[in-house]
Amino acid sequence: MPSTARTYRIATIPGDGVGREVVDAGRAVLDAAARVSGEDFALEWTELPWGSDHYGRTGRMMPADGLQTLEGFDAIYFGAVGWPGVPDHVSLWGLRLAICQGFDQWANVRPVVFHPGVTSPLRKADSADLDWVVVRENSEGEYAGLGGRNFSAREGGEVAVQSSLFTETGCERIMRFSFELARTRDRKKVASVTKSNAQQYGMVLWDDVFRRVAADYPDVETESVLVDAMAARFVLAPESLSVVVASNLNADILSDLGSALAGSLGIAASANLNPERRYPSMFEPVHGSAPDIAGRGVANPIGAVASGAMMLDHLGHPEVADAVRAAIDATTAAGVLTADLGGSATTEDVTSALVAALREPAVAR
Ligand SMILES: NC(=O)c1ccc[n+]([C@@H]2O[C@H](COP(=O)([O-])OP(=O)(O)OC[C@H]3O[C@@H](n4cnc5c(N)ncnc54)[C@H](O)[C@@H]3O)[C@@H](O)[C@H]2O)c1
Repeated sequence: MPSTARTYRIATIPGDGVGREVVDAGRAVLDAAARVSGEDFALEWTELPWGSDHYGRTGRMMPADGLQTLEGFDAIYFGAVGWPGVPDHVSLWGLRLAICQGFDQWANVRPVVFHPGVTSPLRKADSADLDWVVVRENSEGEYAGLGGRNFSAREGGEVAVQSSLFTETGCERIMRFSFELARTRDRKKVASVTKSNAQQYGMVLWDDVFRRVAADYPDVETESVLVDAMAARFVLAPESLSVVVASNLNADILSDLGSALAGSLGIAASANLNPERRYPSMFEPVHGSAPDIAGRGVANPIGAVASGAMMLDHLGHPEVADAVRAAIDATTAAGVLTADLGGSATTEDVTSALVAALREPAVAR
């Protein structure tokens, strides 16, 4: 074997449920993409068996020094977390959110992509070329983790406070990121999602920062839309969208709506980025651990594979990433679809089709 010029060290955390199935599929496709690309690099995977099983054994979702372990890697490839028996807030805060916050992965990029051969519930998808990206503020807002519970001794009178945190620094960096992203797209437009009519402190600061940052990007079209109106816009006028920037909770909800409109939660990709590259970034499908279908070999691997393509972009191999995205389109166009998309293909069928599509020179290069 000739030696490889660059080997990237990737930590994989398959996590729970279908996480394992889709991460295995993603690894197979990304390895194939690297092999056939003609670019001199390889991916070296280190699997970390963290998640709800680990919690059952140790009382922790990951070891106490988990972040130190991850810090030395070039990127993290994540499956999903959450399993019946472990409270969801324990599994999420113990692993995924601990990594996102611990590594200041403040930009969560979630493209909404419509693939050929996939039927969308949107009639507009038949006539319009739809594609937009949700940029989620990933470090604060409604998921800042601030608050507490008290007065449990008052029978039936316990109280809970969950505070949102909006900082000028947090708002500004996600706005600038969104404007820079918009400049790379055909349609140079950023829509800011707000709720400043009701949330008169945090969301008014969000709006103020959006207006201030927008002034530095006169070449980019802008609009500010209430989150409820934006939910309707996703359905009724999706052709008006390009980059949609939203707070942690709002973007979480809207991006699931976007992926459902594109056909299934199973196809949506995401990147949790630390844009300064002080820490590794993390790439994961948008979907959860899907306990209802876990272990049956029928999970759609496209969300995980497309997240892997975003990882290749981040590592500096955009052409290989494009080849992976082309393989996804070739596979869906050929009708190799899992049950969530109305087909009968297994995870393995889709994975094999993706690898075969990569081997075809017309697709791969
Ligand atoms: N990033 C994460 O790790 C993450 C995200 C969301 C939910 N969760 C956790 O996942 C668990 C289940 O949550 P949920 O049911 O609300 O959301 P989910 O995304 O796991 O499932 C929602 C629906 O989408 C389907 N689905 C999801 N992924 C699919 C795939 N790859 N292929 C085909 N169908 C797919 C499921 O079968 C289910 O019907 C919970 O413990 C939750 O906390 C984790």
